[in-house]
Amino acid sequence: MSQKKSWFGKNKKVDSQSILSDNNIPRHVAIIMDGNGRWARRRGLPRIAGHHSGMKNVKKITIAADDIGIEILTLYAFSTENWTRPQDEVDYLMSLPQEFFPLEIDELVQKNVRIRMTGWKEGVPVHTLEAVENAIERTKHNTGLILNFAFNYGSRKELTEAMRELVRDVQSGSLKLEDITEEEYSKRLQTAGLPDPDLLIRTSGELRISNFMLWQLAYTELLFTDLYWPEFSENDFYEAIREYQSRIRRYGGL
Ligand code: FPP
Repeated sequence: MSQKKSWFGKNKKVDSQSILSDNNIPRHVAIIMDGNGRWARRRGLPRIAGHHSGMKNVKKITIAADDIGIEILTLYAFSTENWTRPQDEVDYLMSLPQEFFPLEIDELVQKNVRIRMTGWKEGVPVHTLEAVENAIERTKHNTGLILNFAFNYGSRKELTEAMRELVRDVQSGSLKLEDITEEEYSKRLQTAGLPDPDLLIRTSGELRISNFMLWQLAYTELLFTDLYWPEFSENDFYEAIREYQSRIRRYGGL
């Protein structure tokens, strides 16, 4: 457990899902899973050990999210900017889906979880894509929690490409200029068909959005914790949900 200060721990006795109110569970929770490298460094381990531990935490938090009835869990696993990291770290991150899915897919299928990917295939190694696509294929008829990996994802690229598509549609005559609406724009985003996140959690103490879902986060509740992602537990997750449930969402109204 981190010794660092965090917004968690205001009521450390509250440590189970039983404290959650059933009628205000967020539909869509998004997480920026940050702090793997620092978690590893603090233990004198290589950075990739932090990513491996972070991968294991994906399973725990997915099960926790499913248990309380969250519909969509979006996890920021690899950004379009992460390609600039040292090649061996990039290679390791690209190998994680191949390790994760064969290990966990049976349980995910049994739990009715559906895998989805938000991001671009271009540039992602074939072996990585195959692992993700197999998981998507195997879970495509599932109707439970959507586990959405933001992988090779960046929001400015997403917004730019959606804009390009809108312009193309107007130029080709399939869309009138006056029919450009927020809905038409949303339909052209990587997250088409998903509701916007109700709650965004970022671990590791950084207070940034880091090019993540800039459009979709317009009215999302934001929670930041100093805990590093590998140490972010189910109880921390439940406490985040409890914090969400204490917020009053006004959407610009009164
Ligand atoms: C940011 O921490 C984390 C990442 C760039 C990778 C996140 C990926 C996972 C947790 C595993 C994903 C699992 C699958 C199956 C795809 P950081 O390395 O920037 O940490 P630091 O800021 O402490 O260096």
